[in-house]
Amino acid sequence: MTRIVVTGGAGRVGRTLVAGLAARGHDIVSLDRAVSDSPDLAEVEQIAVDLTDADAAASVLAASRADALIHLAAIAVPFSAPEDVIMRTNAGLAISVLGGAVAAGIGRIVAASSPTVIGYGAPRGWVPDRLPLDETSPAQPWNAYALSKLLIEQTIGMLQRQTGDDVRFAAFRPCYVIAPEEWAGAPTQQGHTVRDRLDDPALSAPAIFNYVDARDVADFADTLIAALPDIPSGETFFVGAADALARRPLAELVPQFHPGTEEVAAALTGTTPAFSSAKAERLLGWRPRHDWRTELGEPAASDLAFPASRS
Ligand SMILES: NC(=O)c1ccc[n+]([C@@H]2O[C@H](COP(=O)([O-])OP(=O)(O)OC[C@H]3O[C@@H](n4cnc5c(N)ncnc54)[C@H](O)[C@@H]3O)[C@@H](O)[C@H]2O)c1
Repeated sequence: MTRIVVTGGAGRVGRTLVAGLAARGHDIVSLDRAVSDSPDLAEVEQIAVDLTDADAAASVLAASRADALIHLAAIAVPFSAPEDVIMRTNAGLAISVLGGAVAAGIGRIVAASSPTVIGYGAPRGWVPDRLPLDETSPAQPWNAYALSKLLIEQTIGMLQRQTGDDVRFAAFRPCYVIAPEEWAGAPTQQGHTVRDRLDDPALSAPAIFNYVDARDVADFADTLIAALPDIPSGETFFVGAADALARRPLAELVPQFHPGTEEVAAALTGTTPAFSSAKAERLLGWRPRHDWRTELGEPAASDLAFPASRS
């Protein structure tokens, strides 16, 4: 059993993550501005705190006597607040939470970044040098949210240079997270349902049809926390489903919505997603277990004579 502090534990991702880690026998403390009445957190210690207050963050982290920290608290949606507020909040949280965790002697520190650091959806166009994207693809943030997430990754690098190998760090970039109730029809982060997203590819196109089940994120976090002493410190991981959230191959769909990507998208045949989680499998042995067809009760791609490619 590991004692794990989760910041943002009352949030959309946090609730399933906290419940998943608690179910695996870990002792969880959720730090969030809000205390959640979700049944997911019924058995979990919750502390209400504004973590942008660095002194408050430092004292609650010091008192937590935790072995590990997972930092989720953030303004989590691009343009959901003015750009300066997103930058100030997420950057301030990175310093107060991650720095506070180091000062508190927490030995394993993980932070949520985002695939948006890659820069898709930029108003003046976006053409990657190759697809699928992986952790070596260049970061090209074009808004304050994405930039603040890159800054979180770089805050980890900064702290690593201060602490050396005494503290073990990692960042992860979860794809569009879908919680169990959202498969059942509850609205997703963007306000529409998963089925809306599949029926209208324009809804999923801005995020290049990426997604991941929240329970797989919990499983990833558990695996990562356990592995941190044994893998290189400071790694970043994409965490995505093994397929794309689309009914047609991305070799067709991506160029339709991202002009100029015809050539690079030709590699995305069948159900191949645009984001590779191969590094997580290679370093951690983690693989996603949930996929949209099973969750929505739709036929498996293999039963559909799904076209390998039309390019
Ligand atoms: N949901 C996704 O699809 C997705 C994808 C990629 C990355 N992420 C990242 O995962 C993390 C969680 O996302 P989410 O969708 O659960 O967001 P969310 O908005 O549902 O949850 C964020 C939580 O952080 C808390 N919080 C914000 N500011 C705080 C502060 N100053 N002090 C204490 N708590 C504070 C909020 O109260 C909220 O409960 C974020 O860092 C987000 O950027 C999410």
